Amino acid sequence: EKNGYDHFMLKEIYEQPEVIKDTFRGRLLADQGLIRMAGIEDNIDKFLNAKRIIIAACGTSWHAALVAEYVIEEFARIPVEVEYASEFRYRNPIIDSSDVLIAISQSGETADTLAAIKLAKEKGAFVFGVCNVVGSSISRETHAGAYTHAGPEIGVASTKAFTTQITVLTLIALRLAKAKGTLPNSEYLKYLHELELVPERVEEALTQNDEIYKISEVYKDSTNCLYLGRGYNYPVALEGALKLKEISYIHAEGYPAAEMKHGPIALIDEHMPVIVIAPSQDHYDKVVSNIQEIKARNGKIIAVVTKGDKQVRELADHVIEVPGISEALTPILTTIPLQLLSYHIAVLRECNVDQPRNLAKSVTVE
Ligand code: F6R
Repeated sequence: EKNGYDHFMLKEIYEQPEVIKDTFRGRLLADQGLIRMAGIEDNIDKFLNAKRIIIAACGTSWHAALVAEYVIEEFARIPVEVEYASEFRYRNPIIDSSDVLIAISQSGETADTLAAIKLAKEKGAFVFGVCNVVGSSISRETHAGAYTHAGPEIGVASTKAFTTQITVLTLIALRLAKAKGTLPNSEYLKYLHELELVPERVEEALTQNDEIYKISEVYKDSTNCLYLGRGYNYPVALEGALKLKEISYIHAEGYPAAEMKHGPIALIDEHMPVIVIAPSQDHYDKVVSNIQEIKARNGKIIAVVTKGDKQVRELADHVIEVPGISEALTPILTTIPLQLLSYHIAVLRECNVDQPRNLAKSVTVE
């Protein structure tokens, strides 16, 4: 059941170190320099010959697809396009046997995603599923696939399904990179060893819970929130905003940080909390200047930073630390505090966290 937690959502957030390990089991063999996934091995030619990969999904799974776009392109150098399943299915998409379609779905029952799969199959594409529910419609309808081993997700707002989706897709990206020779072997091995450390780093990220609770108390009555991130953390910003909307009913928007000046900056005043995902990586200096721009307009800044960060700490109203890791792997870590932030804000607002109004766990109608 809830295992002593007040809500399934919180239980599922805390299960992440374990379920990520489950998702690695038998697949990530870092000491041997291997990634083994039957669905990929058996169809490796399909992936290697693909002119491009199209990823179709909805909601949170669509955000995992965006992360996958960045990792697959970066590691395996295969062009990736990410599609909302609902749009893809209705616009006579250009897709043929030289394409691979990856469908991502926790439930494996989402009507639009299922329809996208059927369409892609009709047009001759090879279709690969990333599902959590074993034996689900999508897992049966795809040519091959890889399960996320997140276990049952009861909370309507997706948490552990998202981080395990990213985990599986990162393994796929690295496996393809190895086969294509697009990553130097030393880099490839470095990522394998770093991946092994992800569960304990997620555990460490969870220790920020008390700090996040305090921040939640300050912002629980906000009416709007902006989430900003760049690169690998742009999809994390979208996911953070979706989570807050879904369970606390606070209006939230996620943006790539650099887009702020193209519109959303007009919204910023002393009533606007801005959650900035600012790990110390490639885009750090650019994100720091975004933070300065927000501060100049009296916006309130909650920053997710790498442990030990100094520069952002001086500017931000609140900081939440996550352990350091290579940039491509940061989404799994930076997502954790955003899940907890939404959770605490929703509980403080007395919302029904596990069953938010108007939402269903699997969307089997379009
Ligand atoms: C978000 C959420 C939804 C689902 C979406 C897709 O917390 O629960 O946005 O992510 O309905 O569902 P699946 O992954 O089951 O296809």
